[in-house]
Amino acid sequence: MASKVTFFLILSLLSVSIRYSISEDPVPTPWPLQFHSILLMNHTGILQIIDLWYDWPNGRNFNIIQHQLGNVLYDLEWNNGTSFFYTLDSSKTCSSAQLEVGILRPNWLDGAKYLGQRHVDGFLCNVWEKVDFIWYYEDVETKRPVHWLFYTGRQAHVMTFEVGAVLEDEKWQAPVYCFDGGKGTSVNNGVLHQNLPVMDGVLRGSLFPSI
Ligand SMILES: *[C@@H]1O[C@H](CO)[C@@H](O)[C@H](O)[C@H]1NC(C)=O
Ligand SMILES: *[C@@H]1O[C@H](CO)[C@@H](O)[C@H](O)[C@H]1NC(C)=O
Repeated sequence: MASKVTFFLILSLLSVSIRYSISEDPVPTPWPLQFHSILLMNHTGILQIIDLWYDWPNGRNFNIIQHQLGNVLYDLEWNNGTSFFYTLDSSKTCSSAQLEVGILRPNWLDGAKYLGQRHVDGFLCNVWEKVDFIWYYEDVETKRPVHWLFYTGRQAHVMTFEVGAVLEDEKWQAPVYCFDGGKGTSVNNGVLHQNLPVMDGVLRGSLFPSI
């Protein structure tokens, strides 16, 4: 009888301590369903500014990439796995890709490993690592993302984070030369994709098959 009581005592102590240790680590704040963010990207000194429009309810995600003193590349991603990469200048380049997964889910950071707190870009941040692929820094105070670091060394500095901002529908229309079956300038995917961005296929899908 006594041993039974002891057993239950140990069991309940154990479950308390398990629950305790689970609730101890902070978890990343899920992404808002819609937001606009301006990101300053730095990949070994090559700079870009990305306008990121994340729009989960409409199943779409947009990276508008300004290369420093260079062209603007539009990376439009749909949740059905189709992506378009195009320019809107006279070169009229467009290519598309079909991925097996859609855009990032708002909870894509679930299961990330907590690494503690660090100062980055002047903010005290909680830091998580997701599958050796991205290190994610979130402001301790406001819970907004501050900084992302990719395993390639590519860095994103989050300059603005407008929760609820939505880009007008017209802007999500890929140009006609994306659909005219090669009459527009067709570009080798490798050339167009080589500088690709924060949310490219790697982060979206191939490395995160579970999200
Ligand atoms: C970009 O990153 C490099 C290191 O890769 C660093 O030396 C440089 O100062 C950074 N530039 C900016 C504008 O952050
Ligand atoms: C996915 O959706 C986009 C936008 O509606 C469309 O242009 C594209 O053809 C769709 N792709 C597939 C494979 O259905």
